[in-house]
Amino acid sequence: MEKKVKIFAFGGSLRKDSYTAHILKGLAEFIPNDAVLDTFEPSDLGKLPHFNQDDDMSQPESVKNFKERVKAADAIIIVTPEYNYSVPSLIKNAIEWGSRPYGDNSFDGKTAAIVSSSIGMLGGSRAQYHLRQIMTFLGLQAVQKPEVMIPFIQDKLGQDGKIKDEETKKHIRDIVSALVILTQKLSA
Ligand SMILES: Cc1cc2nc3c(=O)[nH]c(=O)nc-3n(C[C@H](O)[C@H](O)[C@H](O)COP(=O)(O)O)c2cc1C
Repeated sequence: MEKKVKIFAFGGSLRKDSYTAHILKGLAEFIPNDAVLDTFEPSDLGKLPHFNQDDDMSQPESVKNFKERVKAADAIIIVTPEYNYSVPSLIKNAIEWGSRPYGDNSFDGKTAAIVSSSIGMLGGSRAQYHLRQIMTFLGLQAVQKPEVMIPFIQDKLGQDGKIKDEETKKHIRDIVSALVILTQKLSA
């Protein structure tokens, strides 16, 4: 049997009823049989201290845990809201830690997929394109198509926080599947 693709997912926001945190939590439903998922809780992302390059060589335990889980994965999924047309500092902060110290970038060589959302009509597209730019530096090979930018996310989730919109479900299933296929292709 073929080795399962290991996916590590993080993102969301610290807001109590965060839409992106709900999407992140619900990802498990979209993982195919030939992949496994490890999800980093947004609240744990919030426990990572503010990045300080002085601590590059003596990273805190919380950061080591984050980096180890990134390293253990073949593929990364980042679920992001859009703050001020960009990636929120919660996620960027984790990326700074994960990419350091110089020469020990945990993301390098892996594949990635982005799921962005917004309460507005553009679905976090501007944050998504900033994140794609960041991924270039990180050495992450991002899935190009499909692009998953979920607009008016407040209308797409049920009371239980699960995605109820069938089209949105299909988009997420498709990008996860594209991520797994890309990862398998690159590791063949
Ligand atoms: C600081 C801040 C900046 C925001 N900037 C944007 C933005 O640039 N574009 C956008 O579509 N929505 C923006 N929003 C609205 C977010 O789409 C909305 O708050 C969303 O619920 C955030 O994701 P969450 O539910 O996972 O916390 C912003 C919200 C905050 C709090």
